[in-house]
Amino acid sequence: MRISVIGCGYVGLVTGTCLAEAGHQVTCTDNDPERIATLKAGVVPIYEPHLDGMLAENHRSGRLSFTSDAGEAVRAGEAIFICVGTPPLENGEADLSAIDNVARLIATEACESKLVVEKSTVPAQTGQQLKRVLEVYRRNGSTEFRVASNPEFLREGTAVEDFLHPDRIVFGVEDEFSERKLREIYRPILERRFRCSVHLSGCPATQPPTLVVTTINSAELIKHASNSFLAMKISYANMIADVCEKVGGDIKEVTRALGLDPRIGPRFLDAGLGFGGFCLPKDVQAFIRLAERSGVDFSMLKEAERINKRRIDQFFEKIRQALWVVKDKQVGVLGLAFKANTDDIRFAPSLDVLRRLLADGAQVRAYDQEAMERTSAIFPQVQCCREPYEVARDADALLILTEWEEFRQLDWERIHSLMARPLVIDGRNLLNPEAMRERGFEYYCFGRPAEAGAMPFVPAQVSNIFAATASD
Ligand code: UGA
Repeated sequence: MRISVIGCGYVGLVTGTCLAEAGHQVTCTDNDPERIATLKAGVVPIYEPHLDGMLAENHRSGRLSFTSDAGEAVRAGEAIFICVGTPPLENGEADLSAIDNVARLIATEACESKLVVEKSTVPAQTGQQLKRVLEVYRRNGSTEFRVASNPEFLREGTAVEDFLHPDRIVFGVEDEFSERKLREIYRPILERRFRCSVHLSGCPATQPPTLVVTTINSAELIKHASNSFLAMKISYANMIADVCEKVGGDIKEVTRALGLDPRIGPRFLDAGLGFGGFCLPKDVQAFIRLAERSGVDFSMLKEAERINKRRIDQFFEKIRQALWVVKDKQVGVLGLAFKANTDDIRFAPSLDVLRRLLADGAQVRAYDQEAMERTSAIFPQVQCCREPYEVARDADALLILTEWEEFRQLDWERIHSLMARPLVIDGRNLLNPEAMRERGFEYYCFGRPAEAGAMPFVPAQVSNIFAATASD
């Protein structure tokens, strides 16, 4: 089928490339002409495993093309996937102006009837509004627009795999034609009939995806409810970690056993610095606002958000307790991306940590395999290093802010010998506390037994007095 994708962020690029991989003829556009020029030159502007090879291959074969002429893109597809951003407004609601602009574009440029598919994460009832404005903006009376919702459940870092091997595919539709068209689009994926470039020696034998067909409103709610539930799960694990610290439990042991109950499941129970990124924090806020506007006080979700914001304060307390005075200390940061396997730093916990370290007068050096360029654009004062050992040299403390597997595999003996003080504060519970202490490190993390003889918990106000006295 001829498909158009509007918006070449990570959702649009992964959607367009994977639909081309599944055999469709895909045209992608974006309102940033530089981005389109980069893509036409075969360069993928984001780091997403498997995407560059697959994009290049489909581009070469002619199944995937890019144009900065949005009208041309609209006219090219029978189905148009809207993949534009819906960033948060000041009040936490989603900014839907990009969706409105795309609706106007489609309505004015289309010469034939179209299926318009919402892929961007949007609040419930956006589909209804979209239908209305497509009618209002329509120029040609004979073109008909059908609207459907097809929420994405793509995790950055595994988005290509998530698209090609999803657990579920949701169609929010209100007519048979839209459902039929979407089934045609997703048939190769539902029936696993495509050449998968992720698993060259054969795809793993997992269950085929479940197709869920709902109303448009339900599909929109499924997306928000999923992300909000994941956020609550992380905040729940973080609260258990706090209790573990107070009563002497080990969060890893507790969540492992918790997760073995199939009603709970093992994923998204990793305690630490909390959730960041461009999806969970903004979707939680938008869902809270949506509920509020509908007269529902989603207090549970508000609390999950509050718990998450507090994680940075708690992490900083650990830094202050360990270092005592932060000013003029040489602090090394390992990991800047909001999670592993991405170069995305939007709403990354690392940004808040860096901001506070610099405000307190620390000298900061950092390393991340993918996110350094984006970080130095915001924090030119942070010295970016080419490898983790450079970050460790003469450091008074090393902070782990992203769960990159590479950090687990480092030569920690070598790091010990390089540091001025072998102190590691692990915001992602990535390392083994016992092994680190055996290697001679002073090691702190979240919700796992404190070092024998370590300082007991000092409430925030008291440790602030320490810091204030020291700098006086
Ligand atoms: C999230 C959802 O997981 C996807 O299903 C969804 O499609 C996507 O948002 C979206 O709306 O587009 P993503 O933002 O890529 O995906 O990141 P997650 O894997 O959900 O991680 C979010 C944050 O939570 C990261 O900062 C991660 O480090 C943190 N996290 C995750 C934890 O702190 N603990 C965990 O156990 C898991």
